[in-house]
Amino acid sequence: MNIEELRGRLEEANQGHLLQYWDQLSDSEKQQLYKELSPRDFNEINGFYKAAMEDLSSASEKLDDLLEPLPKEVCGRAVNTGQETLLQYDIDGLTEIGESRVAVLLLAGGQGTRLGVPYPKGMYNVGLPSGKTLYQIQAERLLKLQRLGESVTGNSCKIPWYIMTSEHTKQSTQDFFQEHKYFGLQEDDVVLFEQNLLPCIGFDGKIILEKPYKMALAPDGNGGLYRALHHSGVLKDMESRGIKYIHVYCVDNILVKMADPVFIGFCISKGANCGAKVVEKAFPTEAVGVVCKVEGKYQVVEYSEITLKTAEKRDSNGRLVFNAGNICNHFFTLDFLKFVSEPSQERQLKHHVAKKKIPHVNDKDFRVTTKPDSPNGIKMEKFVFDVFHFATSFAVWEVIREDEFAPLKNADTADKDTPTTCRRALLNLHHRYLLAAGAEFVDKDGNNIPHIPSQKKAEEKGGGNGQKGEDEALFVESEISPLVSYAGEGLNKLVEGRKFVSPVYLSQDFTMDKPEIVEGEW
Ligand code: UD1
Repeated sequence: MNIEELRGRLEEANQGHLLQYWDQLSDSEKQQLYKELSPRDFNEINGFYKAAMEDLSSASEKLDDLLEPLPKEVCGRAVNTGQETLLQYDIDGLTEIGESRVAVLLLAGGQGTRLGVPYPKGMYNVGLPSGKTLYQIQAERLLKLQRLGESVTGNSCKIPWYIMTSEHTKQSTQDFFQEHKYFGLQEDDVVLFEQNLLPCIGFDGKIILEKPYKMALAPDGNGGLYRALHHSGVLKDMESRGIKYIHVYCVDNILVKMADPVFIGFCISKGANCGAKVVEKAFPTEAVGVVCKVEGKYQVVEYSEITLKTAEKRDSNGRLVFNAGNICNHFFTLDFLKFVSEPSQERQLKHHVAKKKIPHVNDKDFRVTTKPDSPNGIKMEKFVFDVFHFATSFAVWEVIREDEFAPLKNADTADKDTPTTCRRALLNLHHRYLLAAGAEFVDKDGNNIPHIPSQKKAEEKGGGNGQKGEDEALFVESEISPLVSYAGEGLNKLVEGRKFVSPVYLSQDFTMDKPEIVEGEW
């Protein structure tokens, strides 16, 4: 340990207070603090802080005048696209998958503070009949998609799954996958890598100490991806596997169509090197970013950075002008990812600022950590979509919300984006898949269940008394293992013309050769 050298660097960067408790620390605490501080470039961190704070003071007002809606030629809408074209996108995407040229990359380094569980969000079980976690659902979608790709090309294929974790999520994610035998995927095809952490900084520009021997650290945002890619071997690994296209997505959307062949086929048809999947924004204050143009470049303006006045703007048809709601599903070519991950591009991505209540060493007793009642500093985060402005050819694919977007953000005490809303969205979608494949449903007494059940019917079935919503859900919803069907395909042979006692679960995991149909209970 060269403590004097470190002290000198800290003082020069005006962060000398980080060693203020040094003499009172035990040997192991000293080692921990030294290990944490010595590799850091404090002048660089001060530079991030200065730039981020300057941006913060003027960001939204400046942005308001610069925002432009997306040009029509880069956009496609699933609802306006003919069946033949959709099928072509699907086949084109599946062909790339079948040739092992597609990878998925999961952003899973977030702390999930709103959901409030002490483990990574992907390990969350929203209470489906199968009890599957988000990770298991995603793994099974990949397994199924590999089979679908193989059936198109006749080759055996792989979709490698790259998972970006952070210090907070890495070990538990690793253990979880090992414990569950990678849900049937090959261990080699699930590649974990780690993003960087950045110090949290007080409004006075000083790095906050959480403990006398530890800085308050937070992941550097999902845009930390590019720095992490540069420092890990992931890009090389992709190259060695012959990957050309990467679907990047966030962990919490229970309906996520990983490596969606239609989205991939659409982006390829546009010759895009960068693309985004969106849903129509539901209402002006919905907490989703909007994909748009700013000063002629593609960008997502985050919900925390747009003004109400701009969010509420409508066109002559009454539609929101900025209505392309970002669902954190992005398409990149490998060449594009390599380009934006180079330091000369990555450095141009600015940090966004979130004011937070950051636990800190108590002024009176440095052995106590205090959680403040109001924000005392900032976290700095890069955003994954900030590389859109490097795109030379961009594509935006709008999909149907109830088919593709139900994020898990909050605990069940909230109204929106909770385990309950996620569970119901998935059960409802799967029920619609079964109806579309020709299934009919009866209740335990043999009465036909209408396709659109009325509230009254649901109440007769024992709903009401505040339980109505949940009982109605049990009444009309079904679950299908992703190993049986990725997106509703292939169900006819199993269910067409058959009457099922609702609810139905088409069960299968990687240890089973064929589906099992469980009826009338869960
Ligand atoms: C994100 C999008 C927002 C979009 C919304 C849709 C970003 C910056 N914002 O918002 O535009 O409308 O999803 O649901 O993408 N993560 C990391 N490392 C981090 C921070 C986050 O990997 O340091 C991951 C999370 O684990 C998660 C994803 O990034 O998988 C999104 O993060 P989250 O904080 O949930 O973003 P939102 O604010 O919901």
